[in-house]
This record gives sequence, C-alpha cells and structure tokens, in this order.
Amino acid sequence: MIKTYASYNQVKETHELAGHLTIVVDVLRATSTMLTALKNGASYIYPVESVSDAMKLKQYHTQAVLGGERDLNKIEGFHYSNSPYDYPMHHIYNKQLIFTTTNGTRAMQKCNDAAQCTIAAMLNAGAIINLCKNTSLPISIVMAGTEGMFALEDALCAGAIIYGLNKLQKADDLGNVCADIFYKHLDKKDFYSAMMQGNHARYLAENGFRDDIKFCSQYNIYDIAPTYKEGVLTL
Ligand code: MLT
Repeated sequence: MIKTYASYNQVKETHELAGHLTIVVDVLRATSTMLTALKNGASYIYPVESVSDAMKLKQYHTQAVLGGERDLNKIEGFHYSNSPYDYPMHHIYNKQLIFTTTNGTRAMQKCNDAAQCTIAAMLNAGAIINLCKNTSLPISIVMAGTEGMFALEDALCAGAIIYGLNKLQKADDLGNVCADIFYKHLDKKDFYSAMMQGNHARYLAENGFRDDIKFCSQYNIYDIAPTYKEGVLTL
C-alpha cells in the first residue's frame, strides 16, 4: 500500500519512514529546481533546512554555490534562487550546490531514516514510476506542501506516480484522490492550468514567477531519479 503524506508536517518522526522507498515532492518549486540543477550537471546537492545550516556547510565546501529561497526570493548573499531558470549548465555544471527552501528541503530532512529516498516533480514522473515498479520496498510519498498545508501541484505529481503504477500498487485514500486529480487533467495534458488552480501557483504568479510554473508543469522531460542519502542528493 503506497502511503501518502499531505505535507511534511504529517511525518511526525523520521523513523516512520524507516525501511521505505520515500519520494519527496515539491513541484513548485524545490524538487523541480533540484532536478534541473542535477540534469544540467550539478555534481552534488546538499539540501538543508535553514540558511544558517547552509552557511555552516559552505565553510566545509568552500567551492560550493549557494541556492534557494525565503519568501520566494533569492536569499541575501546566495548565488542563485529557487527558480529552475537559475540553473543552466553554465551556472551549475560540475558544481556542488548547497540548497535551502521553505518547504522542500525541510521535507527532505524528514526522510533521513528512509531505506531509499528520491525526489519527484512533474518533470521526472516517468523515471519515478519506473523506480517504483522495480522496488521491493514499501513506498511512501511525502508531499512537501506549503507551510505545512496540502498543495494541489504536489497532489498532481503524487497522483501521476500512483496513476502511472496502474494498480500495480494500491494506495491509501489520499493517494487515490491524488490519482483522480491527475486523471482529471490527463486528457488535455495541460498541467499548467491544473496547477494554476492551486493557491501556491497563484501566489507565485502574482509575484512574477509565472514562467517558473510553466517550466515546472512540463511532464516527463527528465529521465532521472536521484538518490538522497546521508544529506547528499546526487544522480
Ligand atoms: C519551497 O520549498 O518552499 C518552495 O519551493 C517555495 C518556492 O516556490 O520557492
């Protein structure tokens, strides 16, 4: 049975995920952006919870670049923001990235006891479905959500994964609702409009990030399922 968490807050203790393949989803925008950085050649990503954790890590990894957001925007003194457009090859190829966002990287910390952990977005849904098809571990999907609350775009992605498994794995009730949400939008394949029904997408659009939403709504363009282990995310 695939277990789904509506937000990272719902993972009370990290040991709940022990022994699981855990998939962290933060479509707008943390997981989409980290996937883009890896796709464009980032060697390692260190996802951390706080800005001070990022600064501490930077003292050990002096060559690393700093990326992420607070209140949607680039953090003072950081190189890059939480926009996938900030991570083209010429910025990130062969670089280590220390990354912190309000929800997505926090959700990843909840998965530190998982047997295996990866990240998903609409961009790599197919690769994650294949990973799920080939695992014998129980599967948990942790939707990062927004400020501890359920977010529609994460449900769309969780739904894409569950729907893509085509009943090979049963899901819990929330997982089945997510699959229905995805199925409802599958015909038109207009995941941008689907996401724009959610509050976080509207908030991003109001703040000038409409292009990021368009980018993050692309379906299945990256064939990667990175591994997050001992604080490091890599291909
Ligand atoms: C987050 O991790 O909180 C989000 O990615 C926020 C954002 O859209 O920048």
